[in-house]
Amino acid sequence: PPLDEILNLHDFEETVLPAKAWAYYSSASDDEITIRENRAAFQRVWFRPRILRDVTSVDWSTTILGCKSSLPVYISATALGKLGHPDGELNLTRAAAKHGVIQMIPTLASCSFDEIVDAAQPGQYLFLQLYVNRDREITKKYVQHAEKRGVKALFITVDAPQLGRREKDMRMKFVDDGAGAKVQEGQSDVKKDQGVARAISSFIDPSLSWKDIPWFRSITNMHIILKGVATPEDAILAYESGCQGIVLSNHGGRQLDTSRSGLENLIDIVAALKAKGPWPNPNFAVFVDGGVRRASDVLKAIALGASAVGVGRGFLYAFSSYGQEGVERAIEILRDEFEMNMRLIGARNISEIVPEMVDASALRSH
Ligand code: FNR
Repeated sequence: PPLDEILNLHDFEETVLPAKAWAYYSSASDDEITIRENRAAFQRVWFRPRILRDVTSVDWSTTILGCKSSLPVYISATALGKLGHPDGELNLTRAAAKHGVIQMIPTLASCSFDEIVDAAQPGQYLFLQLYVNRDREITKKYVQHAEKRGVKALFITVDAPQLGRREKDMRMKFVDDGAGAKVQEGQSDVKKDQGVARAISSFIDPSLSWKDIPWFRSITNMHIILKGVATPEDAILAYESGCQGIVLSNHGGRQLDTSRSGLENLIDIVAALKAKGPWPNPNFAVFVDGGVRRASDVLKAIALGASAVGVGRGFLYAFSSYGQEGVERAIEILRDEFEMNMRLIGARNISEIVPEMVDASALRSH
């Protein structure tokens, strides 16, 4: 459909993508139970709106890890943008620049890291997602280069010592058509005939452990965030090991199937962190991703303690079908939804979104 008939982020998902892109982007692991749960969990949280608060002007802008953002949403890293669109990740970079949104660059981007940074506007904020290479020298160079080029935060993916089995994707043989061609040298290890995900990911180091965190601290001054935390135990370890935050994420349902949604884990994790230190903690941020398609989803996560939320597939599908304009439209849709929903729940700014504005009693007992 023409772009102006796209009314919400779900609509982008209904558009037709090239078969291989659809297989890689939409797939999740095993029986795809977690990916469904990511959406379902948001539907178990209900609003408790407050009334009569003069919501003439509402402001949904915020600061994410010290970086100004026009939305409490960042673009999460999704690999291989060129499977969906010839401009790949640059669609995200350009749209993000126009609308003041932060993009997290994936290690396995189709465009090279420098192409993406070169496409950014001066002062535009970028984060970097890191898959840690078995050869730590490659990782060290990559991280230090990113810092030199102005990247503000390093999101180390910790839920993927091995990539999950995404069977939809595995049934589609990997044929190198250039989508992954610019993947960082030494960061790709292409083996044909086993699906896109497995073909590009065998460089990832499964030996990564808590002992490595001080090493990351020693090679960079960027904020270090662990992406893919699922339990209070690990949230506390991340906090105590000197990280600046965590993403409660199950990798969009693409890793361990039947793991809980980030939203559902949020309540227990926030409770555990509150017991350990100040809350909200200016030195430790909690993010959530997985299944976010509406501003109302984001408001629920914020009410329960998240400082911002990541969106993966929503933007991926948007640029696959409509390029940069699609991403811009997705951002505008979210912006309009924030305005309306904040008025309707009675919050004039992000700090007025409080736990009492949601009824989360239908989430797992805690
Ligand atoms: C991802 N995600 C991901 N995460 C990561 O740390 N490194 C990566 O290379 C990728 N690649 C990737 C590819 C595709 C096609 C998808 C859909 C996802 C996970 C991503 O950052 C995020 O956690 C999820 O996408 C969030 O869920 P939604 O928004 O897609 O439902």
